[in-house]
Amino acid sequence: MYRCCRYYGLEGVAGHEGDAAFSVEVNHFTFGPGCLREAGSHARSLGMHRVALYTDKQVRDLPYVATVKRSLEAAGIDVAIYWECEVEPTDRSFKAAAAFAQEGRFDGFVSVGGGSVIDTAKAANLYASHPDDFLAYVNAPIGQGKPVPGPLKPHIACPTTCGTGSEVTGIAIFDLLEQQCKTGILSRHLLPSRALVDPDVTHTLTPAIVAANGFDALSHALESYTARPHSAKVKNYEGFDGARRPMNQGANLWSDMGAREALRLIGQNLVRAVNDPDDAQARGSIMYAALVAGMTFSNAGCHLPHGMSYAVSGLVRDFKAPGGYPQDAPMVPHGMSVVLNAPSVYRFTGEAAPERHLEGAAFLGADVRDARPEDGGEVVAAKLIEMMQAVRFPNGLNAVGYSEADAEALAERAFPQQRVIQNAPREVTKTTLAELFRGAMRYW
Ligand SMILES: [Fe+2]
Repeated sequence: MYRCCRYYGLEGVAGHEGDAAFSVEVNHFTFGPGCLREAGSHARSLGMHRVALYTDKQVRDLPYVATVKRSLEAAGIDVAIYWECEVEPTDRSFKAAAAFAQEGRFDGFVSVGGGSVIDTAKAANLYASHPDDFLAYVNAPIGQGKPVPGPLKPHIACPTTCGTGSEVTGIAIFDLLEQQCKTGILSRHLLPSRALVDPDVTHTLTPAIVAANGFDALSHALESYTARPHSAKVKNYEGFDGARRPMNQGANLWSDMGAREALRLIGQNLVRAVNDPDDAQARGSIMYAALVAGMTFSNAGCHLPHGMSYAVSGLVRDFKAPGGYPQDAPMVPHGMSVVLNAPSVYRFTGEAAPERHLEGAAFLGADVRDARPEDGGEVVAAKLIEMMQAVRFPNGLNAVGYSEADAEALAERAFPQQRVIQNAPREVTKTTLAELFRGAMRYW
């Protein structure tokens, strides 16, 4: 039997067959300084004549929206701007964006902004292209989990932050207000048709935003690298169909390649990119790493640090992040809510795949010459803590307003995130989650 490396032995789960194959789906992307000016020619080549340009009120006054709009108009394309995307999108803001798309009868979509804006454009495009009840396409069990029936209208995604990778994922995340939970829509049809990734956008990001974005990208890569191997995922998806293999299929040979490169770039550049806003080379490297990490987790899936992050951001009381984040409401930025869980998680998951954790630390630049493989979880946790300190990050969940008394409530809120929790390399119960939250309260 073919076995490419030990991690991908076909162990499966007793009595079941593991999935021996994996599928990779990536979209067309362009990376490089000034590439936002190519928006018009890409739109023309995709057959667009009248586009909806999605952005938000933070981004609309930056030069990037004007650059993209000018390029589209110079190519003879009509542009209607929608700038009411919300920073933490909700079903309400997705529906409003979809109504704009339906009324405008557009033949293409362009998004200019962070992950929230790009996710909103994906959802608007979906409901304008294949109208249905809002919950129809939302992940089960919260929604109906109905497969998206076919391709959407073309969408060009132009990220203005360097973390989410949304420009290369088939995922749109939002808060479902009625049930007070974070959920999403997942489909390869949500992958934007093109991504224009211009590292010049990082010049206007504050150090705090680069830090949170960079740690989000780091986590996408490290969670993909330490995720349960695809070959251990039980092939019992209802009516398993190779053409519909889930994109969060677990770690695989291809995602390993992306994770290695993203971790290497982030290890070499993140601290410099945060501490020196004029270091264009370091910031550009983080932008590229975020792109690569986005493709990586889109084809492998995240696990516990992301699964736990939704509880950390959802139960926030009064924390407001300094350094350029909106101050109108309490919020833990996404990258922060993820990486604050990470050292505690890797101390726990290390046991399941010690070499992978040690390799992760080495890709990030840790000296592992004297480390024993069985210490992999602790070594990668220590490297993450060192990086968090180097960019003056909060020292754990205590610093964003939580105490050990909140661990059970956080676990209760995180547990329904089974899609990502089941991608972890170890079994996780609610009790485990509470322990992991307790371990994330204070690192130094
Ligand atoms: Fe993320």
